[in-house]
Amino acid sequence: MNSLVQVAYLLTAVAFILGVMRLRAPARARSGNLLAAGGMLLALVATAAVLPAHHLWWVGAALVVGGIAGTASARRVPMTAMPQMVALFNGMGGGAAALVAADETARYLPAFPPAAAAAPALFTVLIGSISFAGSMVAFAKLQELIRGRPITFPGQKPVNLLLLLLLIGVALLLPFDPAARAALLIGFAAGALLLGVSTVLPVGGADMPVIISLLNACTGLAAATTGFVLGNNVLIVAGALVGASGTILTVLMSRAMNRSLANVLFGSFGKLHATHLEQAGTEGEGVRATTVEDVAALLAYAGKVAIVPGYGLAVSRAQQEVRDLMDALLARGVDVRFGIHPVAGRMPGHMNVLLAEANVPYDRLYDMESINPDFPRTDVVLVIGANDVTNPAARNNPDSPLYGMPVLNVDQARSVVVLKRSLRPGFAGIDNDLYRNPKTMMLFGDARESLQHLLSALKDVA
Ligand code: TAP
Repeated sequence: MNSLVQVAYLLTAVAFILGVMRLRAPARARSGNLLAAGGMLLALVATAAVLPAHHLWWVGAALVVGGIAGTASARRVPMTAMPQMVALFNGMGGGAAALVAADETARYLPAFPPAAAAAPALFTVLIGSISFAGSMVAFAKLQELIRGRPITFPGQKPVNLLLLLLLIGVALLLPFDPAARAALLIGFAAGALLLGVSTVLPVGGADMPVIISLLNACTGLAAATTGFVLGNNVLIVAGALVGASGTILTVLMSRAMNRSLANVLFGSFGKLHATHLEQAGTEGEGVRATTVEDVAALLAYAGKVAIVPGYGLAVSRAQQEVRDLMDALLARGVDVRFGIHPVAGRMPGHMNVLLAEANVPYDRLYDMESINPDFPRTDVVLVIGANDVTNPAARNNPDSPLYGMPVLNVDQARSVVVLKRSLRPGFAGIDNDLYRNPKTMMLFGDARESLQHLLSALKDVA
């Protein structure tokens, strides 16, 4: 039986690896997800098969409760709330790993587990608890249960460092103090939770997705070390996959925002720019407002159009209207492409997911590197609810906090039309010089309504 279970675990590991590989291309992502989920199901069945019968009730009950909660939340959560959902699920993973490892250590009390089991178990309690508590803070920030901007206090960094050193000290003391062992173990877990909270509190709004993917990497690591504690190969492989992909995603996102990870963790980004956040109107010096009729005519007679979506597209849920606009322009013989910035929106792949929902063909989507050289040859760029990712200050203004961040060079096109509701800045809280560029026209209003009006105006253009 045991070797059958090992074979099932091996198949699960293969399914996870192939599943993750398929996630690399949008067209194959769905099947990749299904493959990985199938692998998970196989691992669950194999594990249940070797459990004592009286444990099966607990496993069954957990599966039913978890399955219902997971399915209901996945169906109900809007796309804009996806980052906090990821934070919540990730925290659960870290918390579960920490609980399993703490239980494995506590099982020996008042004795101490052998060093080979104790070291990974304590490491898992530490990392899993940090990941759980940090993810809960990230969830609370993104859900606006607490202030989303960085929360700091004097001496925060030295206090965090001291706490980490204290935890290492407690871990080293555990094997030598049988009388206080239970209390030390509880203190160790509580301290790790506190460290998770105080590490994420100073991280600000736009950096939250980066910290979530870092916590994701921590959860993966905690799952892998739980695998060592339990001697479970599939946990080691799955944890290593999550840990590695979380780390790669963290690095890629930091790079796309031109930030170092240390700057994300300790920089308190978002505190700096709060003063810019008030400009809410639609009138500003050098800003040119336009009408749907003018934009419809401009688009209808263009040869090459690029559409740049951003967070506002997700807010207004205008993906279907964008698709309809693309169809209408293609029917007129206009070449239409989408320019996708890696951190447009609020989570990795946000724009790809939205456009896939409206069945925009993948071959119309161009990433930043491939579409940027094409902007000088583009007649019209339609910027829909995107802001920071189009800000030319990232190229031209060394004083801008965005300076150095790779952006979509939409200002190099022949004309630019921006669909947004006001002159308010985007997530970074920074003015966008694009709106004062003589080539730019602003079509103010909710993106979805503007697109609906644009579509009917387009029908009237001969
Ligand atoms: P933002 O810079 O946040 O700008 C979004 C714009 O959408 C706003 O200026 C807003 O202007 C407009 N908007 C909101 N609701 C709208 C509606 N209903 N109709 C029309 N427009 C609407 O978005 P972006 O360009 O996508 O940039 C993403 C930002 O998030 C970047 O700063 C990025 O660094 C950060 N970030 C993203 C990620 C990932 S992984 N995606 C991770 C970390 C940070 P109005 O209020 O005037 O309408």
